[in-house]
Amino acid sequence: MSIDAGTRVSRRAGTVPMHRALPGLLREPAEALAGFAQRSGGEIVRLGLGPFRPYLVTHPDHVQQVMRLEWENYQRVGMFWRPLERLFGHSIMSDGAHWRASRDILQPLFTVRYIATIAEEVADRVADRIQEWDEHVRTGRSLDTTAEMSGLLSHIVNRVLFGDKLGREDGERIIPAFDTVSHSLVSRFLMPFMPYAIRLPGDRACLRGVKQIDDVVFPVVRKAMAEPDDGLDVISMLCRSTDENGDRLTDRQIRDALVGVYAASSETTAMVVTWLWLLLEEHPDVAARLQAEIEEVVGDGPARPEHVPRLRYTRMVLLETMRLYPAGWLLPRHVMQDAEIGGVRVRKGSTVLICPYATQRLEEFWERPREFDPERFAPENGERRHRYAYFPFGGGPHKCLGEHLFHVETPLVVASILSRFRLSVRTPGPFSTSWAASLRPRQRVELGLSFAGRDRSGACR
Ligand code: HEM
Repeated sequence: MSIDAGTRVSRRAGTVPMHRALPGLLREPAEALAGFAQRSGGEIVRLGLGPFRPYLVTHPDHVQQVMRLEWENYQRVGMFWRPLERLFGHSIMSDGAHWRASRDILQPLFTVRYIATIAEEVADRVADRIQEWDEHVRTGRSLDTTAEMSGLLSHIVNRVLFGDKLGREDGERIIPAFDTVSHSLVSRFLMPFMPYAIRLPGDRACLRGVKQIDDVVFPVVRKAMAEPDDGLDVISMLCRSTDENGDRLTDRQIRDALVGVYAASSETTAMVVTWLWLLLEEHPDVAARLQAEIEEVVGDGPARPEHVPRLRYTRMVLLETMRLYPAGWLLPRHVMQDAEIGGVRVRKGSTVLICPYATQRLEEFWERPREFDPERFAPENGERRHRYAYFPFGGGPHKCLGEHLFHVETPLVVASILSRFRLSVRTPGPFSTSWAASLRPRQRVELGLSFAGRDRSGACR
């Protein structure tokens, strides 16, 4: 079907009826949304989910309208975002004045210059942590991929956020707490119209998870406020920051900022790396070329920041991984005033679902959309693409703050791991996606490890 994104006559969106929408969404949500989008040829469709009837918006022109051109009319408030307030409070992950104030404070902390100042320490953390996997090679014990990648990425992000103010043990207590919160919100996402007076499965676990996070984060925040220093970590900078009235931030504001950035940064990156191992297992040709680049640039490893600009194929592979598996797979927006998108009238108070997973697989914008082909991201191939056919980091004023950090830390992680180990996926596929804040494999994924090239006990293999 062809797409006429510029149609001016106002009309109603086609609807996917409940009996077709619900089973797919429960089984494999991202894939179901991609299917609805493809069948409508990228036109806007409405999902008939009883009292909840969101619009699915996937055409790149329409995405651009919602995320950039008319972004103020499509806000991160309303029933989809309310459950997240339990976790984030009024932080950068909200909208309106709280979001603006938080963004103004946080944006200068994630510049290219700032990331360059901490890149060496990030590389050290990666190297330290993956050395611990040697034990898995010696014992033959496999790794639980999502757990290990989350542990590794959280170890890095904690350095950026807390410097040396958060001990490793406390840092590790946060990971399962976030996991609990992420999973426990599923019922609220599936039934966003349900009042809070009615308890849903997961509500109690969510509050427990938030309390566990607060028990770790608040004491660190209060100590940092009482003993301010000139550290370059985010918590130290937040303690020195002032709000728009020139007042120092409160412990609650600092806690919300840290928790918001932690949630946005650690699980997202960990899931991209998890999907990467699954894709490499299925594409030995890509794996071999990636390995060859890493051997040439990094040698025996570990990777250092100066290697990153030369890891060009690694970057292409990561970009293609995020095309097929964008961690931020669902970006809901609340319609503030009646409006029109691509000729379809959308009513004030309704929900618009933006789904990078669906857009990035639309046949109208991607050749062989389901094939994993990093060549799409060779520098010479990028120019022809619609800016909003590929947006794993979002777009417009809410665009991801951590994109540059991602492009430094993730090549360091991938190149350090592959210069030390060979990985093999031990769990049989195929793998499907599940309902969670970040796009996760539904199945537990076991990774087998062996040493790359040189046996770390000293002997050559
Ligand atoms: C694979 C890695 C990542 C992906 C795929 C990703 C994706 C995204 C997406 C899609 C958004 C837009 C959300 C929306 O429009 O509602 C976003 C926002 C954000 N991301 Fe990332 N992100 C990643 C890593 C990071 C990292 C490493 C940081 C660390 C600073 C970070 C911090 C943020 C923040 C603070 C926002 C909110 C920005 C705002 O609303 O003003 N992200 N991210």
